[in-house]
Amino acid sequence: MQIIDGKKVSAEVKERVRQQTLQLKNDYNITPGLAVVIVGDDPASRVYVNNKKKACEVVGFKSEEYALPAKTTQEELLDLVKTLNTKEDINGILVQLPLPKHLDDKAVIEAIDPKKDVDAFHAVNVGKIMLGEYDFLPCTPAGVMEMLHSYDIPVEGKECVVIGRSNIVGKPMGMLLLHENGTVTICHSRTKNLAEVCRRADILVAAVGIPKFVKADMVKDGAVVIDVGMDRDENGKLCGDVDFENVKDKCSFITPVPGGVGPMTISTLMKNTLKACKLQNN
Ligand code: GUN
Repeated sequence: MQIIDGKKVSAEVKERVRQQTLQLKNDYNITPGLAVVIVGDDPASRVYVNNKKKACEVVGFKSEEYALPAKTTQEELLDLVKTLNTKEDINGILVQLPLPKHLDDKAVIEAIDPKKDVDAFHAVNVGKIMLGEYDFLPCTPAGVMEMLHSYDIPVEGKECVVIGRSNIVGKPMGMLLLHENGTVTICHSRTKNLAEVCRRADILVAAVGIPKFVKADMVKDGAVVIDVGMDRDENGKLCGDVDFENVKDKCSFITPVPGGVGPMTISTLMKNTLKACKLQNN
């Protein structure tokens, strides 16, 4: 069994982005800029936003944080997004989800200029991903693919099972695995015989948001297990969707939480922001 080191792979990706950023600065005096919008005071969102800002510093981007109070109105948030759409020194706009309940996240995502949509959540970018003709890849699924590549784990012809069908992870994850010629099954809360379906997987991706949901009897011997979860166990400790201690010995590869997929999400965001900057200055 080998543990996939997301921190290490992420650091390698960020180093490549840093080098290219330096070159952009030297050749054209351009610095990529990312605007991060956070509404309210969700502690998990605060941690993610801080990590994204930190990554910007590491790779040499400019980052701007817009921290809005929980009572922000839809109109105020849309106004901010529209302003950021027109700001020339901002190449990427990220509105941290989830938003407070009174806000309509779909409308906010659709208000972002698709060229600055570094999360790849806008319908235009989602459509391009479906067609395989994208500018930006969704951060978490692309981070997973980068890990598989980094450890030379082939996808072609493999049984790939994704647990979870969210727009952010499950659905695009299935699509990226399909693009690399995996045989993809997406499972969800209504799936019958879930354990049996999961046991078919050569590559099992857990993105359900339930702590330690994937048990040893759901995993085939020698499977690659990718844990997208960021959950809290019964003691409030950070854990994933996979019961790591009981599953790990069955796997050929497994990602830990923390230190697995999480850092990869952020390094893909850096790649997307650099790409946005290059496309906007073309
Ligand atoms: N909330 C959880 N994951 C993400 C993400 O990748 N992007 C944004 N904007 N919000 C999130």
